[in-house]
Amino acid sequence: MDDYSNDIILTGDRPTGPLHLGHYAGSLVNRLALQGRCRRQYVLIADCQALTDNAGGAGRVAHNVLEVALDYLAVGLDPERSPFVLQSGVPELCELTMLYLNLVTVARLERNPTVKAEIQSRGFSRDVPAGFLCYPVAQAADITAFKATLVPVGDDQLPMIEQTGEIAARVNRLAGRDVFPEAKALLSTTPRLPGLDGKAKASKSLGNAISLSASADEVSRAVQAMFTDPGHLRVSDPGQVEGNVVFAYLDAFDPDKAAVEDLRAHYRRGGLGDAVLKKRLDGVLQDLLAPIRERRARLARDPGQVMRFVAQGTHAAREVAARTLSEVRRVFGLRELEPAAKRLAATW
Ligand code: TRP
Repeated sequence: MDDYSNDIILTGDRPTGPLHLGHYAGSLVNRLALQGRCRRQYVLIADCQALTDNAGGAGRVAHNVLEVALDYLAVGLDPERSPFVLQSGVPELCELTMLYLNLVTVARLERNPTVKAEIQSRGFSRDVPAGFLCYPVAQAADITAFKATLVPVGDDQLPMIEQTGEIAARVNRLAGRDVFPEAKALLSTTPRLPGLDGKAKASKSLGNAISLSASADEVSRAVQAMFTDPGHLRVSDPGQVEGNVVFAYLDAFDPDKAAVEDLRAHYRRGGLGDAVLKKRLDGVLQDLLAPIRERRARLARDPGQVMRFVAQGTHAAREVAARTLSEVRRVFGLRELEPAAKRLAATW
């Protein structure tokens, strides 16, 4: 494995719902592996970003902050080594965003391919919330605030890293020195997990994902309902493994890769029924999720403690972000009013 001992890593999730197996395979496993092998790994709970297309859903977002923090702890993220940072608890990020917005054109914002696709899928046109169009700039603030050098992401997030690079380069040019290091994307090597229905992406909002907190029953039912090969009518028929969701999940989660290869060949040849495959997958997922579910249930009994972890990480992160902000304010030639403001505050 590569040497990450000098890297500052920033990763994050929007708290729009409990995390699911797609997050587990795509990013949580990675974070567990990186934890302790880098200088620091900040895990951002991006609640402000979750509001950009969901301003009316504030209560739900706030509720999901706890759910996501529980998921992090349950899979084994250690808040000491991977501090959890609540985005809204670091107001310095908002100020950085405001400053960076002056470095970005509307044309550039509209060209971001991921945002473009998201605008289209949400049916926005000129009525797109300005905050939504600008969220890549807020993401640049997240990344640069911690001077992150490595951002583990799925390929849909590459345009955000690119935009961050442009903004960081402009700040560096204004400053005449390297305020920010280059933030590189660390692409997940696991292919995106498909939805249970065979749709390209497992997603909470599409209701086609298995959440990490799912009960044993829910897991079994989800496996039963998985899309396989609609042309595979009799056990003796040859079956198709491409687009077959059960195989995608076995590839992602079955620890016995050789056995999965045998099953794949057998399925293609014919003579292997869906029921056998699904039974195997059910066993694999139950083994994976049972300890996570247990830990989660135990932690959920003390939500105060969970939120204390979030508060601690956020507090530590805020100190770092405040230092960066004061550097950036200087680059923009803004006056430091801090001592005066402090004196004023003391008289209140
Ligand atoms: N955009 C990311 C997502 O939708 C969440 C996120 C916010 C993020 N800020 C970030 C990811 C900074 C990496 C770095 O999942």
